[in-house]
Order: sequence, then C-alpha cells, then structure tokens
Amino acid sequence: MTDIDRDQYQIKTEPYYRPVADEIAMYEAAYAARMPVMLKGPTGCGKSRFVEHMAWRLGKPLITVACNEDMTASDLVGRFLLDINGTKWQDGPLTVAARIGAICYLDEVVEARQDTTVVIHPLTDHRRELPLEKKGELVHAHPDFQLVISYNPGYQSLMKDLKQSTKQRFGGLDFDYPKTEVESEIVAHEGGVDKETAEKLVQIAQRSRNLKGHGLDEGMSTRLLVYAAQLISKGISPQDACQMALVTPLTDDPDMRDTLGAAVNTYF
Ligand SMILES: Nc1ncnc2c1ncn2[C@@H]1O[C@H](COP(=O)(O)OP(=O)(O)O)[C@@H](O)[C@H]1O
Ligand SMILES: [Mg+2]
Repeated sequence: MTDIDRDQYQIKTEPYYRPVADEIAMYEAAYAARMPVMLKGPTGCGKSRFVEHMAWRLGKPLITVACNEDMTASDLVGRFLLDINGTKWQDGPLTVAARIGAICYLDEVVEARQDTTVVIHPLTDHRRELPLEKKGELVHAHPDFQLVISYNPGYQSLMKDLKQSTKQRFGGLDFDYPKTEVESEIVAHEGGVDKETAEKLVQIAQRSRNLKGHGLDEGMSTRLLVYAAQLISKGISPQDACQMALVTPLTDDPDMRDTLGAAVNTYF
C-alpha cells in the first residue's frame, strides 16, 4: 500500500461536531488502546459525524462501509476478479483499512448477516490479524488500524442482532438526540437558521419522539431537522419545509400525518 492510498481516505478539513458529553475523551482513550468501539443510538443523531470528526482529530484515514443484508464476507475482505490476464486479487475495504492503518467504520452493522460479521473477529482481539483464506495470506493489522461499528438498538429483532461473541469485542458509547439547547445549536449551525427557528424545529421533533412506539417507529432525527432548516434558509415557508423534511418521510399514515402537522402548526 502506498501513501496515495492512505491520503485519499484522509479527512482534510474539520468536520463540525458539537460534543454532547465526554465522548471525545472517551473515544481518544479507546483509540489509544486500539479498542474496537461500538456507537449505539437512533438514526440521524450524529454517530457518523462523530467518527468523521474523530478520524480528523486523530489524523487517521477513515474507511466507511454501509452494511446491508446482501453483503458477504468477500465484500469486506476482498475477492479474485477476472481480467484479461487471468485472475487478480482485490482487497475489500476492511483489508485496505487493516493494511494502511485506517479507522474502519462499519455503519449499521446489524444489517449484515452474522456469517459476514464474524470476519471481524480476528481483527478485534489481541491477534489483530485478518486471514484472507481464498488468497492464502494473513494480514497483520497496521498499528493505527481501529474498527468502529454503529448500531441502532431500536431496529434489532431476535433475527437481527449481533451475537454476544461479536458484541463483547467492543467498548460501547451511547448516543441519543441531545438536549434542546445543544440540538438547537447543531440545527442552527448545520441548517443556516437562527437559534429561535432551530429551537422550534427541535420542539416539534421532541413531540414526534414521544410518539415512538405509539404509531411511529422512530421520531424525527437531528438529520431531518437539519433538512427542514436548510429548506427554510432557502426561502421555503416553515410549514412547507416541515411537511417535506419532517412529516412526509416519517409516516404514510394519514392520522399520524395530521398529528404531526398539528405539532408543526403549534410552533409555526
Ligand atoms: N453532535 C453533532 N454535531 C454536529 N452535527 C450533528 C451532531 N449530531 C447530529 N448532527 C447533524 O445531524 C446529521 C446526521 O448525523 P449522522 O452522524 O449522519 O447520524 P447517524 O447517527 O445516523 O450516523 C449530521 O449530518 C449533522 O448535520
Ligand atoms: Mg450514520
């Protein structure tokens, strides 16, 4: 692996991240110990942004993999490809990360099947190695390599959960939507609206979050609030912006849409 490979995964400018508790110090200590880390929390609450920020802060390359149920171990580790000269091995993202010393972020790891997830095991204990069985190579992870996974505790069912033998290889950090003041600050910064507008959006979201399990699978995420704010800052009326960014994506149920629409009208 060359420096060019490493350079393309390096984050050049600081990703804005508003700390919520002591997560930066906790993560730094975990990284110093090269401990694998699991970020738990609902969708759109800042997990991916946090990893991007930490990779930048630590000056390490970041390789992100969005996990899905069709993903196989080969998609992570690598495979032989056919070309005119015959077959050629191509490293998967996990292997590249282990070789160049990147932080490898497996986003929504429960989406992957358990037989896929187990390939990370030898990388996440004292061995820090990755066997490429088909190629007949044992990759020893670069000293800077670290594995990070994200996980939405709301989504998992008995069918879809990490095995204990996988879970118990990670330190865990809990994420959630921050308190009003902090979330408003984030929405104002990311969406380009004033604090007052941002706070109204956050209050609407909090109402929807109270409906979780009572007709909604999830409340409105910080991500959606940022979308609403961005539309408002582009000149869309707050009502229309909230409809498009907060209500329509969340539910198809007409009654629930009315309920959410009423919450929007309370504030705008
Ligand atoms: N603490 C935070 N600091 C800065 N931006 C945040 C924070 N939390 C959420 N956001 C905003 O919310 C959006 C969604 O966050 P993201 O990290 O993508 O969520 P997820 O938890 O699903 O990975 C980000 O793009 C960012 O605009
Ligand atoms: Mg994410």
